[in-house]
Amino acid sequence: MKVLVIGGGAREHALCRSLSQDPAVSELHCAPGNAGIGRVATVHPVDQLDGAAVTALAQRLAADLVVVGPEAPLVAGVADPLRAAGIPVFGPSAEAAQLEGSKAFAKDVMAGAGVPTARSYLCTTPAEAAEALDAFGAPYVVKDDGLAAGKGVVVTADRTAALAHAASCERVVIEEYLDGPEVSLFAITDGTTVLPLQPAQDFKRALDGDAGPNTGGMGAYSPLPWAPAGLVEEVLETVLQPTVDELRRRGTPFSGLLYAGLALTSRGTRVIEFNARFGDPETQVVLARLRTPLAGVLLAAANGTLADLEPLRWDEGAAVTVVIAAEGYPAAPRSGDVIEGLEKAEAADGTVWVLHAGTEQDGEGRVLSAGGRVLSVTATGADLAQARERAYTGVAEIRLDGSQHRTDIALKAALDS
Ligand code: AMP
Ligand code: GLY
Repeated sequence: MKVLVIGGGAREHALCRSLSQDPAVSELHCAPGNAGIGRVATVHPVDQLDGAAVTALAQRLAADLVVVGPEAPLVAGVADPLRAAGIPVFGPSAEAAQLEGSKAFAKDVMAGAGVPTARSYLCTTPAEAAEALDAFGAPYVVKDDGLAAGKGVVVTADRTAALAHAASCERVVIEEYLDGPEVSLFAITDGTTVLPLQPAQDFKRALDGDAGPNTGGMGAYSPLPWAPAGLVEEVLETVLQPTVDELRRRGTPFSGLLYAGLALTSRGTRVIEFNARFGDPETQVVLARLRTPLAGVLLAAANGTLADLEPLRWDEGAAVTVVIAAEGYPAAPRSGDVIEGLEKAEAADGTVWVLHAGTEQDGEGRVLSAGGRVLSVTATGADLAQARERAYTGVAEIRLDGSQHRTDIALKAALDS
């Protein structure tokens, strides 16, 4: 099977790594890729937002499957011309990707499907925003309606800051604050059948102890030893299946990866947000534990035959990933610095590996930083404590001027389990 992956972050590196280990995959391509992906796939300098260019590449390669990784191409509708050309594609249509592209659309789908989420108002004027903020009280949750690369959500006790964020967005969703731990649960779906993966937890804040600004994610781990028994089944029944059924009923079936960001509140499980693609960095740890070869699962989703698949097999152990970010991330990341120690960071026995996010290779073969989140050091172990120790041993080998990482990824979960 010839597979083409669209994207160039750590998530796509994790997808390419798993696909490269799948005996069913004879050729692996990625566009645009990055310096690390180039080691496991042939990379192509194609604009990932250009549906016609991506389709032309897939046709030229005679790809049997195209996997669209990031939200930007999905929301831009890159999956649509691929499907129209008869190419199996893993990733939702532009219409179904609105589940991530518009918070208001997601709220409307959840209301239609009876899915539990925070109560909310959609506001378009400062007066409406002020009224909504006062209706819920502090802490205030203010969300830009559209895609904002992790910068669209402000959670604050400061009413002035909440109003200022609302004023900076054209359409804004203001909602009730949800307390309780967060869980990311991914499901692979063909629009009818829903196959949940293992839950993971992401660390969104930049600094240790969940301090500092929101980021795209600074680390993740799986499994969640503290999660209530039956969580996955409950979320499948109350969130994932009803959402997939509702989108099919509306005539815009969702096929691809449905990501439920959940809060386990004192009043029950609530959806914080949906994404229309694998989450980063959770994908790194979820795929690290998946034993079933990946390509066949993604192809079955693309072809609408998930119901025929054997149950997924999982590693009983744990996985932890730690993100190394550039100096100045998230506000103003610095780039162009040389990265060293990449080989040393990886374990010969395959228990530690480095996934590239924002990297590029220069003319002399050196790897340079080229983005806010630069690398994601991933490790497996018998339990979280061992996986965590291995991941941080890898992190310690990497040299990148001014870089930053959290030191408490999976710490509490490892101590509690
Ligand atoms: P999102 O981009 O929707 O994932 O939001 C980013 C982060 O903001 C989430 O991971 C939560 O930590 C936080 N957040 C979003 N919505 C809420 C809410 N209703 N209550 C509390 N925290 C929230
Ligand atoms: N880990 C958060 C995200 O992918 O949106």
